[in-house]
Amino acid sequence: MIKADLEFFRQWFSGFCKSFYTADIGDQKNIALKEQHTFRVCEVMLQIAEGLSLGGNETMLAESVALFHDVGRFPQYAKYKTFRDVISVNHGLLGAETLIGHKVLQNLPLEEQELIIESVKFHNAFSVPKREKEDITLFIKLIRDADKLDIWRVFLEHFEGPPETMAEAITLGLPDTPEYSREVLSHIFKKETAPHLQVRTVNDFKLLQLSWVFDLNFKPTFELLSERGYIDRLASHLPQTEEIRQATVFVKEFLRQSLKE
Ligand SMILES: [Fe+2]
Repeated sequence: MIKADLEFFRQWFSGFCKSFYTADIGDQKNIALKEQHTFRVCEVMLQIAEGLSLGGNETMLAESVALFHDVGRFPQYAKYKTFRDVISVNHGLLGAETLIGHKVLQNLPLEEQELIIESVKFHNAFSVPKREKEDITLFIKLIRDADKLDIWRVFLEHFEGPPETMAEAITLGLPDTPEYSREVLSHIFKKETAPHLQVRTVNDFKLLQLSWVFDLNFKPTFELLSERGYIDRLASHLPQTEEIRQATVFVKEFLRQSLKE
């Protein structure tokens, strides 16, 4: 791909987002949230790409994947008024279909089109698909890392910022009650990511986000996570029980080890 392709993608994406703007203040906040998230994921993606010394073309592809990874969020929200896939639609799949339907990528070589579409399709899958070609797997892993880093930011800003700026859909419509699930917590001690289906409260969602540390792929991502202090910040918004304290220590120890490798 060439720089002009990337420029076209940015313009197309911006027009696409605008087509979903609405006069409803609550809905507009949720739409704007995803548009801003996209730009921040692009920034993080460039930082990770630089940390990994990717080449010029790979970096442009990585940025394109970041730009389009959540393109499915807009039609998802327009139709279902939620970002919760388990009660609406798989937004990765919908994003891939959206790019194909709008013929956004048609000027790129076929293998680059495939790479972007597959990366968008699987950025939110429970795990990285094993049968994918090696070069595509790299980009699926890149977007999964960049996306998580910015979801942590969005989520923490939601809890730490003034209430009037909160976009409601961030907590997925889950009840913000004191309970949390032992089942979700147990995945952390097994060094695995908890499945979304087990998430029933906002606290479960926080625990799920702690467990994402086990699904990161690249050292620059661990470095950014550590610099930004997201683990401690996330833990500070959870009930201060002994088992949660132990889970936090466990996650931080894993992060420390990952930084050394
Ligand atoms: Fe996403």
